[in-house]
Amino acid sequence: MNLYSFVLMALMGVPGSGAKVQISWTGDVTAGFSTTFTCSSSCSPNCIYTWLLKDRTVKGSTLTWTPDGRENTVDLQCTVLNPETGGFSSTISTVEIKNPLSVQVSPPNTVPFLKQALDLVCHQDKSGDLQEPSNPIWFKDGQKVTLRNNMQLLQNNLTLHFDTPLPSDAGFYQCETSLRQTRVLSLGYLLSFDLWNVTISGPDTVFLDRLYQFTCLSSCILNDDCTVKWHFKSGFPIGTYFSVHRNVLKWTPSRPGTFQNFTCIAENAAAGRSAQTTKMVEVKGTPLSGSQTGQLGGLPTMILSLGLLMLFHS
Ligand SMILES: *[C@@H]1O[C@H](CO)[C@@H](O)[C@H](O)[C@H]1NC(C)=O
Ligand SMILES: *[C@@H]1O[C@H](CO)[C@@H](O)[C@H](O)[C@H]1NC(C)=O
Ligand SMILES: *[C@@H]1O[C@H](CO)[C@@H](O)[C@H](O)[C@H]1NC(C)=O
Repeated sequence: MNLYSFVLMALMGVPGSGAKVQISWTGDVTAGFSTTFTCSSSCSPNCIYTWLLKDRTVKGSTLTWTPDGRENTVDLQCTVLNPETGGFSSTISTVEIKNPLSVQVSPPNTVPFLKQALDLVCHQDKSGDLQEPSNPIWFKDGQKVTLRNNMQLLQNNLTLHFDTPLPSDAGFYQCETSLRQTRVLSLGYLLSFDLWNVTISGPDTVFLDRLYQFTCLSSCILNDDCTVKWHFKSGFPIGTYFSVHRNVLKWTPSRPGTFQNFTCIAENAAAGRSAQTTKMVEVKGTPLSGSQTGQLGGLPTMILSLGLLMLFHS
């Protein structure tokens, strides 16, 4: 078998040659808990299996692995060699990893304010018969937290207490603890003292059959700090055109005499933060005289497009 056919077979999983490869496991894959993955193929029992997991190569039909919470998905690859035919085939499963550990404010949903006492707790989801996480270590922005004045570790270090938080305490907090035999890094909490503000740009009054654009502006960094979602609590916008792409909404209204509410929510689910705003837009039938520049502006464009169209046809 030449290299080309090997690569092709690996990509295609060799349909026809019967060497279908399957990765299976039972239950959720959870940080701190071991999961056994099984690779199977039709050359059983003689198949030779090789796993690839995060640059680690392991031989054998099963792989037992305990995630440490540092990632929320991994790509798990199993390659099978059929010694009788010399054929290879391979499959990849993307495995989602649950993390039972997180950093939370205490009490929950407390909004942190400067100079107001604050507790961060290393929280473990109550699932199964787990013992309390032990030997917690706290990290801020990936660095081990060094305690300064007015800052304490309480409850066997599961609580990080600030008497009077300072602006310099803002950052991304994680805890690492031993769950059973494995050190697990928690989901993080973004401690910030400025409330996100969110605004929606765009007109307050719109007219029929024109395309309008509304943009949700947020003080958090889009797709890094936060993601943006639109909600239409009081009814979906009625119109001849409607599209949403991330923080930009485009709409051509078609029902005069109505009000439309757009709600934009900026959130970071992992960090438990969100902010939202609602904009009410009035739909009017005909533009007032003198405000028709938008419509007139469309005319030259149309003539231009017609011209281009004719150019392409000639
Ligand atoms: C708590 O943290 C301190 C400082 O890092 C350490 O000296 C102590 O042993 C820890 N205690 C527990 C119960 O983990
Ligand atoms: C957030 O609010 C401040 C003060 O009200 C304002 O100056 C700033 O432009 C706002 N930022 C955004 C993205 O709306
Ligand atoms: C839109 O929201 C406002 C308050 O923000 C509310 O008074 C109004 O009834 C809402 N409009 C509709 C159509 O639900």
